[in-house]
Amino acid sequence: MKLILIGFMGSGKTTISQFLGQQLAEPVLDLDREIERQQQQTIPQIFAQSGEKGFRQIEHDVLQQSIGFSGILATGGGTPLRADNLQLLRQAGVPVILLVASPAETYRRLQQQDNRPLGNKLDVAGIRQLQRDRQPFYDRCADVSIMTDDRTPAEITQEIIKYL
Ligand code: S3P
Repeated sequence: MKLILIGFMGSGKTTISQFLGQQLAEPVLDLDREIERQQQQTIPQIFAQSGEKGFRQIEHDVLQQSIGFSGILATGGGTPLRADNLQLLRQAGVPVILLVASPAETYRRLQQQDNRPLGNKLDVAGIRQLQRDRQPFYDRCADVSIMTDDRTPAEITQEIIKYL
């Protein structure tokens, strides 16, 4: 593994992982896409069938399998919430980069896609609250935190590369 991206839904993990993969000529593994590939179901389908609890177990299992991957790992917004996941992420021994977006910007981004069972129902206040609740988990995991609101993916990518 080269680096790990963490952060709330809509913080740009998937987009930035693609940019980093191109810039660094490294393969990219997106945990949510890997879950969907293995389960042959979309994330909303997994939530509908197995609930959040079932999804979290699958997420943990796929993380455990993926942690030896050599490249760039984009996690899901809830991946660092479990202590065993946090331990896996830290044990990878590579930089863990936290991407951050404001509640208003997050709301704007989440409106563009209807594929987040936990995020799509939230208004700006709900997003702010959930971000606050999750911040301690992200802080425990991250080496560096990067604000994404007013910067292009190319600029964010360049900033991350400085930390490698
Ligand atoms: C989740 C974030 C999603 C996905 C699932 C749960 C969360 O990933 O793993 O819907 O709890 O924050 P993204 O952060 O890629 O949207």
